[in-house]
Amino acid sequence: MKTLKYLKLPVLALAMLASGFVAAENSAMLELANARGCFICHAVVPDEKREGLPLGPSYDEVALRYRGDEKAFDRILDRVIHGTAYRQQAWEGKVAMRFMPPNVNLTRDEAAALTDWILGLDVEPELASKLVRHDNMMALATYSGCTICHGLDPVKDRRVVPLAPAFREIAAEYAGRSHAKDRLVQAITEGTLGSGSKTWENVNMRFMPPSVNVKREDAEALVDWILALDTHGIQRRPTAPKRN
Ligand code: HEC
Ligand code: HEC
Repeated sequence: MKTLKYLKLPVLALAMLASGFVAAENSAMLELANARGCFICHAVVPDEKREGLPLGPSYDEVALRYRGDEKAFDRILDRVIHGTAYRQQAWEGKVAMRFMPPNVNLTRDEAAALTDWILGLDVEPELASKLVRHDNMMALATYSGCTICHGLDPVKDRRVVPLAPAFREIAAEYAGRSHAKDRLVQAITEGTLGSGSKTWENVNMRFMPPSVNVKREDAEALVDWILALDTHGIQRRPTAPKRN
């Protein structure tokens, strides 16, 4: 893979990434891209195990292609906002879709932030494999419906009561607890109503319904991912989950 010539990520952020954290900027951008549906068609780095063409180019490939092209930002920003239906295909033969539809659910500022982040990406192989996993898991969480209720990060506004605990809060809460994986896999596959009492006092929904369409191996992969999330700076809730 490429060298780190065109580095936009701060060195500290990269060091954190390399050491297993997903750094703040990446994390915010990954979540934004996820929330706006970009990962339905894109990945951050090409997934080598993938069979057949991806729907859209990976962001890493986009960054590589326009590296050093000073005018790329405006051009790509325009495409991210308006889609690419009316232009010649830029990724012909490399992607399965003929064009990107307009991303109508995106503000201009969000589009600019995402474009800037994408064009500045430069990913080391070790980091790449982490991002692939993160991507895949974000996508799996989205396909599996988890993100209807769960966010990756806790809501910033303390007055807002979220529907469900954020994945990073769950990671912080269960760090080092024995049987955490079994318990959480069971919570996902069977739901939490049967446990009789609510675990997370500070969320809006009383219980999690069973995720009946999620395969057990996917539930296990999701739990492994959740428990390995960066919990740096995550505050434990005033009302901590009951321990049973
Ligand atoms: C429905 C699928 C789909 C979605 C959703 C989607 N894209 Fe795309 N995107 C594509 C395809 C397909 C291309 C390649 C188009 C081409 O070959 O000209 C593309 C191309 C791009 C490019 C490169 C443009 C170029 O000219 O090289 C960027 C950057 C991009 N997308 C960002 C985003 C962002 C950010 C989002 C979310 C806000 C997003 N995309 C959502 C399918 C999608
Ligand atoms: C309809 C909303 C909803 C959906 C969809 C949902 N959850 Fe939940 N989840 C919740 C709520 C609410 C809680 C807190 C339950 C409680 O307080 O006992 C929760 C709790 C959890 C917990 C912590 C359980 C514990 O015992 O502390 C995990 C892990 C979790 N969810 C993962 C997932 C995953 C992975 C998915 C997708 C496969 C998912 N959830 C889908 C609402 C949801």
